Amino acid sequence: MPEQTELIHTFNGIPFSTRVSKELLQSLDTFEAREDDVLLVSYPKSGTHWLTEIMRNLYHSHNEDNGVSKVTLTSPLEFGDLSKFDELRNLPNKRLIPTHLNYEMIPVQFKTKKCKMIYVIRNPKDTAVSLYHYYKQNPNLPKIEKWSTFLEMFLKGEVVCGSWIDHVLSWEKSKTDENVLVLYYESLKEDLPKYVKEISTFLGINVTEEQVKDISKKSSFSEMKEKAEKEKVNPNHTVCVLTSNKKLIFRKGTVGDWKNHFTSKQNARFDELFNEKINSSELARRVEY
Ligand code: A3P
Repeated sequence: MPEQTELIHTFNGIPFSTRVSKELLQSLDTFEAREDDVLLVSYPKSGTHWLTEIMRNLYHSHNEDNGVSKVTLTSPLEFGDLSKFDELRNLPNKRLIPTHLNYEMIPVQFKTKKCKMIYVIRNPKDTAVSLYHYYKQNPNLPKIEKWSTFLEMFLKGEVVCGSWIDHVLSWEKSKTDENVLVLYYESLKEDLPKYVKEISTFLGINVTEEQVKDISKKSSFSEMKEKAEKEKVNPNHTVCVLTSNKKLIFRKGTVGDWKNHFTSKQNARFDELFNEKINSSELARRVEY
């Protein structure tokens, strides 16, 4: 078991799990992107698994003769050591790559080659709650005893991937780029078929109404949770207990669980620290609670 102090290191002022190697972070700009790469970007606990399921289903809803290439969903870009780049370079298929990096840290070739990027945002209060539970069940992250302690860490940006608001602000500059689609967790909760269609249009995949319905069903919280529960836990998968045991990812999947955790004082402190920055960002202002 690693020491608590060995679980986190800081790069560019941002805390990362030590499973994310410093060497890899330093070499991000040497990463060779391909024009047909698709990036799925999120601050942790914003619905990454949900979006990957939707996108995977969209690509798999096609057979080979209708022009949609075979796609491989990779592990997060920054997770692992430098050999990760070789691994990705050797993938023959189109690559669907998740990442939690802020805009500045995204390898430059993804930007110059105008690769498609989907940035998913979730309201920060629910994100904080979800991240708190994630910390609690993940032995690869520092031990957290109390919600109040964790919330302070979240507000100061002292959690993995740093400050939520800084992450969103960094993506602000990309919001009008044609190759970037910004989505909100809460909107998907409200009308999943509408966003399955929007994602398919963005990715250039033609789907029928029937396929939209089917993909929405397959990527609903209940179906994804049920599927994860049936999945065998892989004891040899040492990277992260949460990736070896996916059922730990599907906790509640709701909007507004923060109301069961925040006291009114904590809520007021949150608003006091975040509201000004949230109001200064068009992307953050659109977040719903
Ligand atoms: P909760 O902890 O609030 O339940 P990520 O995939 O980025 O790690 O995010 C995990 C969060 O997304 C968890 O939130 C999880 O339950 C939620 N989630 C996963 N699949 C979902 C789905 N199909 N619908 C809604 N929420 C989902």
